[in-house]
Amino acid sequence: MIYMLDTANIKAIERAKDLYPIKGVTTNPTIVSREGRSFLPLLKDIRRVIGDENMLHVQTLGLKAEDIIAEAEYLKANLGENIYIKIPVIPEGIKAIRILKDKGFNITATAIFTSQQALMAAVSGADFLAPYVNRIDNISGNGVEVVKDIINEINSYGLHAKVLAASFKNVQQVHELAKAGVHSVTVSPDILDAMIHHPLTDWSVEQFVKDWEKLYGEGKLTKDVSK
Ligand code: G3P
Repeated sequence: MIYMLDTANIKAIERAKDLYPIKGVTTNPTIVSREGRSFLPLLKDIRRVIGDENMLHVQTLGLKAEDIIAEAEYLKANLGENIYIKIPVIPEGIKAIRILKDKGFNITATAIFTSQQALMAAVSGADFLAPYVNRIDNISGNGVEVVKDIINEINSYGLHAKVLAASFKNVQQVHELAKAGVHSVTVSPDILDAMIHHPLTDWSVEQFVKDWEKLYGEGKLTKDVSK
């Protein structure tokens, strides 16, 4: 499982990178606009925080293939080699994916709502496929089932693309996809925390500390009481 963080908030990225095994950050125009900052300095700050070894997924705005390609070249020139160009699966986007893949770009096909969109993007050369799980659920679809279909199609056609499931609103959606063997997920900072949180874990840790302190004193660690 590859975990990615779906935010452009620097503080949230710093915290999550410190705590969790994050392999990349994903953004989109909405996520970027929430930060209220100039685009390129913000993205460069994210690159600085995550380092060159982690993936940075950045979305293009163009609606014509030539504009998407020009954006991809600009983004790669400014944000380093380990960048994934996020391209929505509109027809011009599919064209851009093919051309950019031939030029050696890393591609994430995004705004995926159906398995057929995902399949065509994968055949066109996309490295990651980003289906929007919760947005599918919100139109009375079944996001988890759509993603399972995509995983099956990739496997049965032997395609190289990985599924990067996105748009989660709860841990259960992530859980269902983990059981289905999803390759990667991108989640908001609060979902990431919720994935590890359990009140009984916190209660157990509190009890351990209380019991320990009865004998060894407050604030003492194992290394402090070895004699
Ligand atoms: O990465 C795509 C994702 O950001 C969309 O999520 O929560 O806006 O549906 P959401």
